[in-house]
Amino acid sequence: MAVDSTASTWSQRFEQGLHPAIERFNASITFDIALLQQDLDGSVAHARMLGRCGVISEAEANALIGGLEAIRAEAAAGQFQPGLEAEDVHFAVERRLIELLGSLGKKLHTGRSRNDQVGTDVRLWLRSQIDAIDLDLQRYERALLDLAERHVDTLIPGYTHLQRAQPLSLAHHLLAYVEMAERDRARLVDVRKRVNICPLGAAALAGTPVPIDRRQTAEELGFEAIYANSLDAVSDRDFAVEFMAAASLVMAHLSRLSEEVILWASQEFGFVGLTDRCATGSSLMPQKKNPDVPELVRGKSGRVFGHLMGLLTLIKGLPLAYNKDFQEDKEALFDGVRTVRDCLEAMAILFEEGLDFRVERLEQAVTTDFSNATDVADYLVARGVPFREAYQLVGGLVKACLVEGKLLRDLPLERWQALHPAFGSDLYAAIAPRQVVAARSSEGGTGFEQVRSQLRQIRARLGSGPQAP
Ligand code: ARG
Repeated sequence: MAVDSTASTWSQRFEQGLHPAIERFNASITFDIALLQQDLDGSVAHARMLGRCGVISEAEANALIGGLEAIRAEAAAGQFQPGLEAEDVHFAVERRLIELLGSLGKKLHTGRSRNDQVGTDVRLWLRSQIDAIDLDLQRYERALLDLAERHVDTLIPGYTHLQRAQPLSLAHHLLAYVEMAERDRARLVDVRKRVNICPLGAAALAGTPVPIDRRQTAEELGFEAIYANSLDAVSDRDFAVEFMAAASLVMAHLSRLSEEVILWASQEFGFVGLTDRCATGSSLMPQKKNPDVPELVRGKSGRVFGHLMGLLTLIKGLPLAYNKDFQEDKEALFDGVRTVRDCLEAMAILFEEGLDFRVERLEQAVTTDFSNATDVADYLVARGVPFREAYQLVGGLVKACLVEGKLLRDLPLERWQALHPAFGSDLYAAIAPRQVVAARSSEGGTGFEQVRSQLRQIRARLGSGPQAP
């Protein structure tokens, strides 16, 4: 029987090769080659288990492992570059193994399918990326923390509705983002538990009559458990969705911080300058210094949110068990992981050496507004005036100040006392911005002592160098 050479991947059921355009359409090798190390690890564990279970001899198992390691060495030397005809990384490895070992190589796939194989590879890959992202998050947090430690005493206007609200310690503002990042890390730790379950041995969908030991391979590969149901094992992509949801929150947090830096760096705010290390110029306007780094981070968040939606849509209509649709999970995961990691690195560098906070400008900002109005009301409350009454009185005073072009601190004591006899000359000290901040000593508030204690707690949690997740 004349069999087309590209048909040889499949069983003798096939006589003709794929149409070249369909071969390209069908292939994942151009991107899933990124899973090569995990594919080799999974195959080594599978071969060893087959030997131990007596499915093949120990000598055969060792020869298979030797062949797989030879492929790893070829790849390290840049000599393993499978083309489209290999279809995917799993076939590419198996083909090369058969070239190297002859018919023995054909025993590797005993009791296994590409369906459980690809699920194993993707989980191994994602698990290691989650660990790497944890380290990336720690570096980013440390950059914020170092900056916060230098700026406990720097004041910055706090906003609600992007309207001046109450002054803050700049450290307090930065630490809010550290808290978000800590939750991001905790979320990823939780996702990792469900990534770290082994589907290997589910075979195509129903398990296998071959006397394999799933727990052996799972243990060798560092999985914490095995899937209990073989159909679920080859069909579950929840872990990818969950990861992308956690990654999306990382990006949402980075994007919010980016937006703030972009605003702060504008001439209108002028709170921060960009150092030459992280800013770019304009090709036309010589005066420009642009915040490209936070703008790109803000922009890239959309890609990751898109992958989340893409993955959810990918799985929603799929009948059990494996469907080729699943091949589409990889580029989403690869791009999502790369984007998050690139953004975390760029933001860490931005906070390590890209920003120059304009302390004087910040000081001036908080002394020339009405963000101490609440403190005037609180002053009266401390002297027995009901809050709502105090609030009304101060509101009227702010209105008058705006008409007269004055600030609260500019009003003479007689004016205050005409409003309410409880006002005394100690009012001026009570409404100075530094005192306004210091006074907010409720737990978790912006008071300097609170901020210092938050800094100590986070520093203790985070240490000064990277910690294994
Ligand atoms: N390249 C495929 C994927 O990424 C591997 C699994 C193929 N399985 C199959 N039955 N066609 O999903």
